[in-house]
Amino acid sequence: MFDTMTITKALGALCGAFLIFLMGSWAASALYDTKAGGGHGAGHGEEGAELTQAYTIEVAEAGTGDAAAAGPTFEEIFATADATKGEKVFGKCAACHKLDGSDGVGPHLNGVVDRAKAASAGFAYSDALKAMASDTWTPANLNAFLTNPKSYAKGTKMSFAGLPKAEDRANLIAWLATQQ
Ligand code: HEC
Repeated sequence: MFDTMTITKALGALCGAFLIFLMGSWAASALYDTKAGGGHGAGHGEEGAELTQAYTIEVAEAGTGDAAAAGPTFEEIFATADATKGEKVFGKCAACHKLDGSDGVGPHLNGVVDRAKAASAGFAYSDALKAMASDTWTPANLNAFLTNPKSYAKGTKMSFAGLPKAEDRANLIAWLATQQ
């Protein structure tokens, strides 16, 4: 039947085929392996980062949208403001502002609601405030100024960080409106 040579050739062919199969499967796993680590870390790293980022963006967008939609406007908060609570908030202003018509470190604040900006005759206002003198301290303008004085009036000499809570600002402005 088969001589030794034929058997040897057949075995050789089988071994060769098996080797090629092994090499192919190794190459495939090296190219497509999704597990972390190994010699192809950079490629896998990018893939992982893209996946993580896509997920994060989705969550962030949902969060921002909700927050923006849920927050009431200043007008809504001001409509239900509590002047009595505002008197307490004024404690943060009292070191510099008086309510008896005389100026201290800052100009007097009695009558400031709906008063022209930079209008206290004897007070030395900064150029930033003087440049706004044709405008008025409406409740909305006071709200914007008191949120962050330095960004509303760049160069103001009012050294005050601002009132971060909208309720505090609304209550304070409501109380200031009662001080004439
Ligand atoms: C550290 C002192 C200081 C504190 C505290 C302070 N202010 Fe002032 N404020 C000033 C000075 C100084 C000015 C004048 C700003 C300028 O000329 O740029 C001013 C200006 C103002 C003006 C403009 C008035 C006008 O006549 O145009 C308003 C309104 C005002 N402050 C409100 C407040 C309120 C309300 C608070 C408390 C939440 C407060 N300030 C806290 C010093 C202060």
